Amino acid sequence: MSERYARITGWGKYVPERVMTNDDLAKIVDTSDEWITSRTGIKQRHLRGENDTTSSMGAAAGREALKSAGLNPSDLDLIIVATTSPDYLVPSVASQIQHLLGASCGAFSLVAGCAGWVYALATASQFIEAGTYQRILVIGVEIISFALDWTDRSTCVLFGDAAAATVVEASYEPGGVLAMELGSDGSGAEYLYVPDGGSTNPFSQRTVDERRQYLRMNGPEVFKFAVRTLASSLKRTVYQAGLTPDDIDLYIPHQANKRIIETAARQLRVPLDKFYINIDRYGNTSAASVPLAMVEAIEEGRLKDGDLVAMCAFGAGLTWATVVMQMGAGGVSVAADSLFSVARARFLARRASDVVLDTAQAALLPLYTRIYELRKKL
Ligand code: ACO
Repeated sequence: MSERYARITGWGKYVPERVMTNDDLAKIVDTSDEWITSRTGIKQRHLRGENDTTSSMGAAAGREALKSAGLNPSDLDLIIVATTSPDYLVPSVASQIQHLLGASCGAFSLVAGCAGWVYALATASQFIEAGTYQRILVIGVEIISFALDWTDRSTCVLFGDAAAATVVEASYEPGGVLAMELGSDGSGAEYLYVPDGGSTNPFSQRTVDERRQYLRMNGPEVFKFAVRTLASSLKRTVYQAGLTPDDIDLYIPHQANKRIIETAARQLRVPLDKFYINIDRYGNTSAASVPLAMVEAIEEGRLKDGDLVAMCAFGAGLTWATVVMQMGAGGVSVAADSLFSVARARFLARRASDVVLDTAQAALLPLYTRIYELRKKL
């Protein structure tokens, strides 16, 4: 059987029209454009319109992605939706999106904070490489604004709403997802969390009195975690793909804070212009952040067929996820070509040694049994 590769063949986004600038924010909390820009790189963010829901935004991005892949909803085998802000706690918003799209496949939501979409892409690639499915829609969508405390200047200035989606398809041509790393450190759960509304602290009068339905964040701790994680996870995953940081054509980091991205570029010794940055226009859109950046990088021609891209996101959990992949369904670059001959050689060698071991064990089993019986008799 030929090897299968998981490639991105379609992409789309939905960004609500309403824009809130830093100056707009300065009218409702004690902050300034100067503080937000210098500490985070954010200039503005988009916020949901009156008729936007997580499902409608996710479906809109999904439709765009299907159109660009030249597919119909009925072609899909699976839909995975990464979000921390579903329409309802129950049911899964993925099923609502499946219904809105008119697809007739399985659908599930995946929660891994801002790292959700990268986790979902990694998950989709496994279904495809295993031969289970051919075409999977992977969506990252957030209406994070509903969970923000608009009186808390330390969090409300950071986030925005958006959706982005990609179609991941099976291909027999080498490329697509080359390596991945999924990580979690639950010891940092309370650095970024919503205290009430779950089974531990159901909604109560205290929730409203103490504003415990909103996102709380220990900014400096999350900052330290992000700085520790971003460059190191990128480096490990790039090496795992048989590449070096210089081989990567474009890095797409989670857009949480421009200073975190600058630090990662320095740690990797890679020029900052190899990092795609759109945080100035959108802020942190959580699970939509990396796919939104990827879609815009493709639209702007910064990401082309054959390019090697490394994506890394981190967030609530604490979680992180990195995927290194080669774009396009077309020709394979020289770097990737040699990479694949090494990967293929390793794979074939491993398979051959497995076959030899299995055969040897099967052949020796009667002998072992005979020796065992003889020993028992003595
Ligand atoms: N405007 C003006 N002043 C502010 C604001 C604001 N919006 N927010 C905080 N300040 C003040 C603080 O009160 C503090 O004042 P003080 O010195 O008088 O006490 C001062 O600014 C410095 O506060 P710090 O929190 O130390 O500021 P810092 O430089 O660390 O920046 C920030 C804060 C931007 C939140 C940073 O810590 C950060 O980016 N952390 C990571 C956040 C992140 O990535 N979160 C998303 C994770 S992904 C997910 O899953 C959602």
